[in-house]
Amino acid sequence: MTDETEVFSLTSGDRNLGMELVRVTEAGAMAAGRWMGRGDKEAADGAAVDAMRLMIATCQMDGIIVIGEGEKDDAPWLSNGERVGTGVPPEVDVAVDPVEGTTITSRGMPGGIAVIAVAGRGAMWDPGPAFYMKKIATGPEAADVVELEAPVADNIKAVAKAKGIDVEDVTVILMDKPRHKELIRQIREAGARIRLITDGDVAAGLSAATNRSGVDLLLGTGGTPEGVITAAAIKALGGCLQGRLDPQSDGERQDLIDAGYDLTQVLNQDELCVGDSFFAATGITGGDLLPAVQYRADGATTHSLVMSSRSGTVRTITAEHQWTKLMKYSGIHYD
Ligand code: FBP
Repeated sequence: MTDETEVFSLTSGDRNLGMELVRVTEAGAMAAGRWMGRGDKEAADGAAVDAMRLMIATCQMDGIIVIGEGEKDDAPWLSNGERVGTGVPPEVDVAVDPVEGTTITSRGMPGGIAVIAVAGRGAMWDPGPAFYMKKIATGPEAADVVELEAPVADNIKAVAKAKGIDVEDVTVILMDKPRHKELIRQIREAGARIRLITDGDVAAGLSAATNRSGVDLLLGTGGTPEGVITAAAIKALGGCLQGRLDPQSDGERQDLIDAGYDLTQVLNQDELCVGDSFFAATGITGGDLLPAVQYRADGATTHSLVMSSRSGTVRTITAEHQWTKLMKYSGIHYD
């Protein structure tokens, strides 16, 4: 894990790497957005990867990809262990998901975003062969009162009390997956409202932590890499994300046991991502968290979030991009 010296060097001089990283997610979103609704998730992912690969090379950092996309579904990506950035300090871990929500993007549904998170070298928890993680996430008001392994009804009541609202007004967001049938039943029995989404639990976790969409709590099992990325962002928001590995097949379970992972350990956002972190996300298809890329004849408009856990600053950035100028110097073709 990262020691204090490395954490300090990451943030010394009040530099906010997120301000550079947002150019990477903007590039990914503009490239992937062209594939919205075209039914080709690999093409959307590939376009974002190509654009982000070029832009990340300009970031002033010595980065190693520790969490990339692709192993679960053979999607194209910068592989784990790849060096990114200009190669000058700070030495950092990089977690990236060029299209978080490939299926929803290919179907033109809400919630597709391009995301990247950076923390000190060795700071990000290594998901290894873990594909799935059981998660709970909420914002600052209820961060200290929820517990991943507590009964669903208790967590919902705790959120209601912490926020000063009725249980009936608590809204839980979760993915509509067969594995969540019993969870959905328990949430309904507890009396809370439900917001079902098909995919995309990074955006869902951030929605629960930011109150951007009237969502109070994320529950359910989603991707482990997505859990680490969400943790890096939630640290800035002052909310909480807790996760425990939740293998969905005998093979995954055995791989985790063989690799020495503790299947009972609950990890929080500060254990999943130690020390300071920077996070950037740009909307691709549009949703509660961020609007979609809007294309014009001569450019596009993007909407992004940039967060720094050290300062707790959350920036919302709207950018107007001009194709002619952008393509001339970046080498990326967006039109
Ligand atoms: P992709 O971007 O790789 O398509 O992932 C979307 C996603 O819904 C994540 O947000 C989530 O963590 C994971 O997939 C859930 O996996 P599964 O679809 O296998 O249940």
